[in-house]
Amino acid sequence: MKANKEILVAIAGLGNCASALIQAVYREKSKKDLKGVMHRDLGGYSIADVKFVAAFDVDKNKVGKDISEAIFSGPNCTEKISDVSYMGVYVSLGPVLDGVASHMKDEFCPMEQKITEERIVAILRESKAEVLLNYMPVGSDEATAFYARCALKAGCGFVNCMPSFICSKPEWGELFRKAGLPCIGDDIKSQIGASVLNRSILHLFDMRGTKIEEALQSNTGNNTDFRNMQDLTRLKTKFASKTNTLISNVSQDIVAKVICNGYDPNIKGDHKICHIHIKAIGTGTEVVFDSKMEVVDSYNSAGVVIDAVRVIKIALNRGISGPIIPACAYFMKLPPEQMEDNYANFLLDEWIHDGSRTIICSHSRIQDFSFSGQRYSEFWTRTIKELVENARKHHLKIKVMSPRIHYHDEKEYLKIIEEAIKELLVCPSGYERNLVIPFSITDPNLKKKMITLLQSCEGINIYSINVAPDEEFLSQVPNICGYAGMDENKIGEELYKELVSRAEVSTIIVVRHQKNQGLEWRIQAIKRMAEVNQKKVIVFGAHEQRQIKKYVGLKGVGIITLGCRGTEIILGFKSSRNTPIVCMDNNSKVDAFLNQMKIATSYSQEGFYGDIVFSGIVNAEMTPRKEVVS
Ligand SMILES: NC(=O)c1ccc[n+]([C@@H]2O[C@H](COP(=O)([O-])OP(=O)(O)OC[C@H]3O[C@@H](n4cnc5c(N)ncnc54)[C@H](O)[C@@H]3O)[C@@H](O)[C@H]2O)c1
Repeated sequence: MKANKEILVAIAGLGNCASALIQAVYREKSKKDLKGVMHRDLGGYSIADVKFVAAFDVDKNKVGKDISEAIFSGPNCTEKISDVSYMGVYVSLGPVLDGVASHMKDEFCPMEQKITEERIVAILRESKAEVLLNYMPVGSDEATAFYARCALKAGCGFVNCMPSFICSKPEWGELFRKAGLPCIGDDIKSQIGASVLNRSILHLFDMRGTKIEEALQSNTGNNTDFRNMQDLTRLKTKFASKTNTLISNVSQDIVAKVICNGYDPNIKGDHKICHIHIKAIGTGTEVVFDSKMEVVDSYNSAGVVIDAVRVIKIALNRGISGPIIPACAYFMKLPPEQMEDNYANFLLDEWIHDGSRTIICSHSRIQDFSFSGQRYSEFWTRTIKELVENARKHHLKIKVMSPRIHYHDEKEYLKIIEEAIKELLVCPSGYERNLVIPFSITDPNLKKKMITLLQSCEGINIYSINVAPDEEFLSQVPNICGYAGMDENKIGEELYKELVSRAEVSTIIVVRHQKNQGLEWRIQAIKRMAEVNQKKVIVFGAHEQRQIKKYVGLKGVGIITLGCRGTEIILGFKSSRNTPIVCMDNNSKVDAFLNQMKIATSYSQEGFYGDIVFSGIVNAEMTPRKEVVS
């Protein structure tokens, strides 16, 4: 279903986080051995599918350089895990705005030049970037809004990796939704960072009923992110984001104290040390928890961004816009909607795998309430259940639509198919759109209408259920893909075996009440088996009652009825008690009769052999006949 396998990414702010992300991608591209990632494959995309096509910075030591070189320029200091080959993509100059705090000027070496939105948009467009990652330093609200606007204008999805609020604000979410672009934000919740760890521990304390009295988290580091955060005026949103992620994961009111700007010049490179302290009351006594964790800060963020860009790509493929709620909740500290991490992970997993919309138009007779053919009904209910379970196992969205009618109303049924098509047509592109329908419309006019209807629904894969596809149907509906249903030959063989196992028969009368390809296949199978066993087969239509009656009661004659369960009753075969009959299919009129115990009992008391046999071999996995249309 993928339009192309590459994910074209642009980056604003080529600092440590960008460097870690790019190195991780190149490690996977070159050695394919990047260990410890959340998703090696995410919805069909690998980490190596990411391609960097544009980058913006203000630092004179980075601007104008190839990305592969710029990421190793100071003040970047993260660990090197990969050689990054020359990309032919040069870092463009962005506007400084509020990106560089006055105390950071010596570090970020900003080139002050007026750069317009149009210029950035033009570069993004030219690069064909699909996603723009925002890695501005903490406190860069203006610069972040600037890049968000550029993404909207250039038609890029947006991932806001830092704590200026974009995706968590409804008005921004709406702008992305209206522009048909997905976004994920705000502020990366690192792979195993202080936030996610502390959230989990606090959640545990809360779940186990302790009363949390103190919750303290402190982060200490020595990279530019930490040095930038020495200016407390830039920290308002960072505090808000970090605190919100903690308090939102417990049911009790807690005061969480977060120190996110601990600066320690002795910490080496891009390492971050985090301490978590919790004091609680558990069953009347004190519980104290203290822990220390050390991580390489930027790789911890890269491990999440690497998934976020792939989610954006999938959203673009599927035409989904606005904040991707489960991704925001799982990846970000301040999402539009906070969720418990396990739940967010579960929802995100469902979201990722939900690449298809399948609608099964089931027949009313398949439903339990159907008054005709209880066995038939049970059989198809089971078949549909299997199809649905199979789809769920593969995380596919599936819906069963049935006409709520008590009889075989083909007009009503056609309406259901029409409705299903409408529903599939409004489902965004990027989804596989499957329609599963029985071929049981027999009225020639309605069948013609159905064929015209199916011919008009381009991009929808059509599967049949119930029987093998009939030739006429196959030739007229170009997007027919496969079927799920009974093997008609097998049914013929089963019926033959059933009959032969009951009585010594030399002649087999096959009665069929309609003509269709399915019945033809069954008859062929019966004939084939009979030929092997040197038995004679005579085929009649149900309307040829007089002819059939001539054989009833004759020694060595057995009857198989096809497409007309209960023919024995219609034909008045009362005297046929010595003629073994096996029948299959559904005739709602007769079935209603049979459901009346009185008749059924009286027949069985008279030793009537022609009980109902329903044989069908199910191929519950859909069998594609050709490649699914993408
Ligand atoms: N684990 C993590 O490292 C982590 C987790 C969550 C959030 N974040 C956030 O991600 C952001 C980036 O972190 P980092 O460690 O890469 O920071 P960094 O200081 O290493 O990089 C910031 C980059 O942005 C550039 N820049 C500044 N103003 C700019 C502008 N107007 N236009 C273009 N570029 C500009 C700087 O020159 C620098 O290259 C920070 O806000 C940080 O708080 C980091």
